[in-house]
Amino acid sequence: MALLPILKYPDPRLKEPALPVTKFDAELEKLVEDMAETMYAAPGIGLAANQVGVLLRLFIIDIASEDEPSDLKVFVNPEIVELTGTQVYEEGCLSFPGASEEIKRAAKVRVRAQDQKGNPFELVADGLLAVAIQHENDHINGVLMIDKVNPLKRRKISRQVHDAQVRAGDAI
Ligand code: NI
Repeated sequence: MALLPILKYPDPRLKEPALPVTKFDAELEKLVEDMAETMYAAPGIGLAANQVGVLLRLFIIDIASEDEPSDLKVFVNPEIVELTGTQVYEEGCLSFPGASEEIKRAAKVRVRAQDQKGNPFELVADGLLAVAIQHENDHINGVLMIDKVNPLKRRKISRQVHDAQVRAGDAI
């Protein structure tokens, strides 16, 4: 397993829509393992393949809290087939270190996807899992949390990311 570098906003690669996964092989399983290790180390609750520079329609989510056993969910070639209701949740993103903003999304989602072996499944989710699925599904379409908010909030997120980078000493 290996930790993968996470692309940070405004890296233009985050804006590129990802391509369908066609090969379910050992390489894909290795990618999922490395992404999981990277997400847990960050730590984060979701990670899309294009956040680690791999342009594939694939994301992982684990919303289990620290005192619960891990519950890794792998979504390959996901398709959100139903969105109902609305909810507002304060979201963060591993590509936007230091930033958080309230974002309005559907309360409930129905998603069809495949696991890393290619087995199809369907899942209905609400609450935080529904938020995470919509957030990660945006990633693989090249859509970022900053694209979901008004210009004022966009500037705030941009400033939060900038300030965090200054604190980390890797940018000015
Ligand atoms: Ni994100």
